[in-house]
Amino acid sequence: AQVDKGGHKHFMAKEIAEQPNVIGEAVRHYLSNDGNAVALPGDDIDFTKIERLTMVACGTAFYACMTAKYWFEQLARIPVEIDVASEFRYREPPIPKGTLALFVSQSGETADTLAALRYCEGKADKIVSVVNVPESSIARESDVALPILAGTEIGVASTKAFTCQLTVLLMLALKAATDRGTMTPEEVQEKLNALRTLPGILNTALERESAFKAVARKLAESRDILFLGRGLMYPLALEGALKLKEISYIHAEAYASGELKHGPIALIDKHVPVVVMAPRDGLFDKTISNMQEVMARNGKVLLITDGEGAGEGSQGVWDVVTLPEVDDVLTPILYAIPAQLLAYHTAVAKGTDVDQPRNLAKSVTVE
Ligand code: G6P
Repeated sequence: AQVDKGGHKHFMAKEIAEQPNVIGEAVRHYLSNDGNAVALPGDDIDFTKIERLTMVACGTAFYACMTAKYWFEQLARIPVEIDVASEFRYREPPIPKGTLALFVSQSGETADTLAALRYCEGKADKIVSVVNVPESSIARESDVALPILAGTEIGVASTKAFTCQLTVLLMLALKAATDRGTMTPEEVQEKLNALRTLPGILNTALERESAFKAVARKLAESRDILFLGRGLMYPLALEGALKLKEISYIHAEAYASGELKHGPIALIDKHVPVVVMAPRDGLFDKTISNMQEVMARNGKVLLITDGEGAGEGSQGVWDVVTLPEVDDVLTPILYAIPAQLLAYHTAVAKGTDVDQPRNLAKSVTVE
C-alpha cells in the first residue's frame, strides 16, 4: 500500500509522531496473556543456556545495540559485546560456545549485517534478529526473528524504527533477566507497568516540540555541535549527533561525558553548542559537573533533563528543555524524541532535504 505523509510536511515528521502508537503496539506484542511477563510470540529463547551475547548492526541500529548492552548487562547480568557489522565481519572474531548472536536491522537487508550473520552461522548457539521487515533476508536467515512492528519507515534518517528496536530489546533483556533469575517477577512487572505508560509519556514529550523548534533555529547557525551523555545517555548522544549530521549537514560529535577532559574540551568556546542529555538518574550529578566544566569555558549548554533536574542543574545554561519523568530504564526511549526533534527542526531551519539527505540511502545493500 502507498504510504502518504498524513498531513505532515515530511515523512520524518510523521514517523516521529507515530512513535507513541507503534511503541504501544510493540509492547503489547511482547507481553504474556496476563500482561505480567514478557512472552516471545514465536520460538522461545532460553537465556539460562546463554553465556554471552554478541550484538552487531550498522548506523542507528548499532546505537540501539549499544543501548541494549547496558540493559542486558545490568538487568540480566549477561556479558555483551557489540560491534559495527563492517568491522565484525572482517575481524573474524572467535565465537565461543554459549554465544547468542543478535543482529538488529530496520530493513533486514544491510549487506554488512547480513554478512556478519552468515559468519555466525554454525558458530553461534542461536542467531536472533530484531527487524522491521519480517520477510527480509536477515529475518529469514535467523533462528528467531523478532519484529519491531514500526510499520513502513520512509525517512532515510531512522526514527520510529530506532525507538521500536529499543522497546523490543528492552523487553528481551527483561525476558533474559526473568529466565536467569536476576530480577524477581515483581521487579519485572514494575518495568512492564512503566513500559505500558510510555506511549502517554512520549505524547507529553512530543508536546514540547515548539521548545525544540525554537532551540533548533539557534543550532542551525552553528558549525559544530557536541553531544554529551553518560551511561544510557551515551548511546543516545551518539544517535543525536548522527541524526543531526545526517539531515542538517552540521558537524556533530558525541562523547561520553567522562571523556570530555580527554580531548573534546579543547574544542569548547562560545561558538560551540553542547547538548547535554541528563535525566535525573543516578549519574545526574556527574553529568552536571561535566556540564559546568563546559560552561566554565564559555561553551553554550543546551540541557535536556526532567523537571527536577532543571530545578537542580540549570543555572547559567544557554537553554534548557524539560521532559516528563520516567523510570530510569526507559530514558533512552524518551530521550530519543529530543534527539530526533532537534535534528529535524535544525534541518528544516536550514532548508535541507529532510527525507532524502544527500549521499545517504535508506538501505545499504552493497558494500
Ligand atoms: C543506513 C540508513 C540508516 C540505518 C543504517 C542501517 O545508513 O540510512 O538509517 O540506520 O543504514 O540500516 P538497517 O536497515 O540495517 O537498520
